[in-house]
Amino acid sequence: MWKEAQAAQGARARATLNEAIAAGGGWLSFERFMDLALYAPGAGYYSGGTRKFGTGGDFTTAPEISSLFGRCVALQCAEVLSALPGGGSILELGAGSGRLALDILARLEELGQLPEHYWILEVSAELRQRQRALLHDRLPRVSSRVAWLDRPPEVPFEGIVLANEVLDALPVKRFRWFADGVQELGVGIEDGQFTWAARPANSGMDQECRRLCAAGGGWDEGYVSEYCPRMPAWTRVVTQPLRKGAALWFDYGLPRAQYYLPERHDGTLACHYRHRVGNDPFDHVGLQDITAWVDFTRLAEASREADFTLAGFTTQVHFLAGLGIDKEMHLAAADDQNAFARLANQARQLMLPGEMGERFKAMAWLRGLELPLSGFGLLDLRHSL
Ligand SMILES: C[S@@+](CC[C@H](N)C(=O)[O-])C[C@H]1O[C@@H](n2cnc3c(N)ncnc32)[C@H](O)[C@@H]1O
Repeated sequence: MWKEAQAAQGARARATLNEAIAAGGGWLSFERFMDLALYAPGAGYYSGGTRKFGTGGDFTTAPEISSLFGRCVALQCAEVLSALPGGGSILELGAGSGRLALDILARLEELGQLPEHYWILEVSAELRQRQRALLHDRLPRVSSRVAWLDRPPEVPFEGIVLANEVLDALPVKRFRWFADGVQELGVGIEDGQFTWAARPANSGMDQECRRLCAAGGGWDEGYVSEYCPRMPAWTRVVTQPLRKGAALWFDYGLPRAQYYLPERHDGTLACHYRHRVGNDPFDHVGLQDITAWVDFTRLAEASREADFTLAGFTTQVHFLAGLGIDKEMHLAAADDQNAFARLANQARQLMLPGEMGERFKAMAWLRGLELPLSGFGLLDLRHSL
């Protein structure tokens, strides 16, 4: 039954993309392809009913690995909320299984610092249901504060906007560099299969690529990569109602100069299907997640455009250590040695440089507030942006 549903969703996604390619005269920009493959109503990966998380799903995120992640994020939220006279609310973007919301709310409840509202902006109907069920089952006392939104709150609020592993799912443009003429890589159809198809880039893309090439230190002919033009507008819109407070972004990525190094000549696309990572977005269309690393310099630039100050940029390992993950481990284990050993193992996964510790970064923006943030106090990498 499940297999049939999957096959039907894959078929719907392919049909939607075939139509879009035909409507474009045989060519579709990769940005639009990614948009439809992930978000086309009823057919895209996030709009459809695939499992996504956990066993039988496609990927695992930091909150799925350990509650320690959410506990530390909660401590960072508590610092911000206590700097706001009326407390404040939290808006989480793309809440996945609801695990991060659960861990944040549970820890804030222990601290006596629950937000007035915990809003979740989620595009996937299936994930909304899972979030609702998880919060209702595990934290019924608090679930009246949680509400799901289709768009950012209409009324201005004070508090926090946060997102873990959402920016990497924003559609990107893909290009191939030639010094005398950049190409935009789009998607065509050959023998019934999706295939890369190049076109001369327009002047906007050409200029953007020259800027990125200079930042990366120069590229060989044929260098392929991508960038996310919609990130500034998207982050501006979702943070727009925040009158005072912080935006916290967690994701895998790099400052621009490292992202666009000459040796990274095939870009950073990563596709997740049943816990396998590939780099072919034409595999398992509609059934796999398609992501690209985050250019954190672009995100830093977006903070200024959105009228925030860039308050911190660091690695996940330093963020968690700065908030006292070791102390959280002891508190969460509550003298149970087996629980402590399990948590220590999870902490290693979150913090080891070869695992998530350094690939993942945290960035903080502040608006209308000035305060030191413990998660960003141990290592300040803003100079690298
Ligand atoms: C990789 S998952 C991360 C989930 C969760 N934050 C976590 O860390 O486990 C991406 C999440 O973002 C949601 N999402 C993707 N694009 C989005 C968008 N444009 N707006 C809101 N949510 C989005 C997905 O449905 C999913 O819940």
